[in-house]
Amino acid sequence: TTVDVADDDYQLGDHPDFMRKEMHEQPEAVRRALMGRLDERFATAHLGGVGLDPHALRSVRRVKFLGCGSAYYAGQLGANLVEELARLPADAEPASEFRYRNPVVDPDTLHVAVSQSGETLDTLAAVQELQRKGGRVIGVVNVVGSAIARECGSGVFLHAGPEVSVASTKAFTNMSVCFAMLALLLGRVRDLSVAHGRRIVAALDALPDRIAEVLATEDEVARVAARFSAAEHMFFIGRVRGWPVAREGAQKLKEISYVHAEAYQAAELKHGPLALIDERMPSVVLVPDDELVSKNIGAIEQIRARGGPVIAVTNTKLPDGLADAVLTVPRTEPELDPILLTVPLQLFAYHLAARLGRDIDKPRNLAKSVTVE
Ligand code: AGP
Repeated sequence: TTVDVADDDYQLGDHPDFMRKEMHEQPEAVRRALMGRLDERFATAHLGGVGLDPHALRSVRRVKFLGCGSAYYAGQLGANLVEELARLPADAEPASEFRYRNPVVDPDTLHVAVSQSGETLDTLAAVQELQRKGGRVIGVVNVVGSAIARECGSGVFLHAGPEVSVASTKAFTNMSVCFAMLALLLGRVRDLSVAHGRRIVAALDALPDRIAEVLATEDEVARVAARFSAAEHMFFIGRVRGWPVAREGAQKLKEISYVHAEAYQAAELKHGPLALIDERMPSVVLVPDDELVSKNIGAIEQIRARGGPVIAVTNTKLPDGLADAVLTVPRTEPELDPILLTVPLQLFAYHLAARLGRDIDKPRNLAKSVTVE
């Protein structure tokens, strides 16, 4: 099959569909995003397109990510990275909300408009609202020459290559990688140490190989997806670093399998959603090996005590029998854990949807880029 995309003859090759092809392209896509942008000597990133000199970078007091759907969840992951590495207040908001609420635009905030297609109308409208109010905005966009890229005039291209499947995979990953570089850059003009910066640079450099290792676990993920393919509802549970990952995992499952999925922060469970837990409500729980690992193990115990099956997604050895299934990813620097933890959730959604016979590349009711209100 050849799909008519503007800048390429993009072929399916041996893959059954574009989503699978695009998931497997992630190591290469990340390599392209990193190419020429990592600076080991100064332990920073070169993002020339951002167009801010060190003085301007230092004048940034806050960072706000704006995007829709998966681009918004990637923005949340980016906000966490900026807070951790640059120690700047950072958050993410759906561009569709921002544009309608007459936002207070602070000139010291760096706004980051995030979009694979560069054509999402709500994100474009948010950029225009910002510009009308004199706000600072850069684009983090995949498609060169797209409306959002042109409107922003400065920013970072994802270099993910064409993405055809409605479900975003490699673009989400490359967004996360570009945010890690932006956070590194903002951090290194502030107080992020050379040693810490170098660890991030080295981990980013190694990320394509780590992603390839996750992709190599595909058969195991497919087996777990098959075990849970009769579920009508699923929870995705994460906290802090795992929270945007949980949201993106739920999003992937909903959009391509039509299984109802909700993401919750682990500590919020006891404030309501625990009432929904029973043997028919599996939970996918993100357990990165960070300072919150014992809290996340506690969340798994709470869910299982109420009969809920648990699939743990982790980069550490969990106690035997803690979860019904465990998906393991390799280690990287803890700040980058969310990037690796997202990949098994893509594979999980993919194989569950395939098992249910869904039209994976073109799920019902959805368009690849939403250029209407
Ligand atoms: C992702 O899997 C979704 N199809 C969707 O949420 C998408 O991320 C959103 O519509 C934003 O698209 P964009 O990145 O092209 O702006």
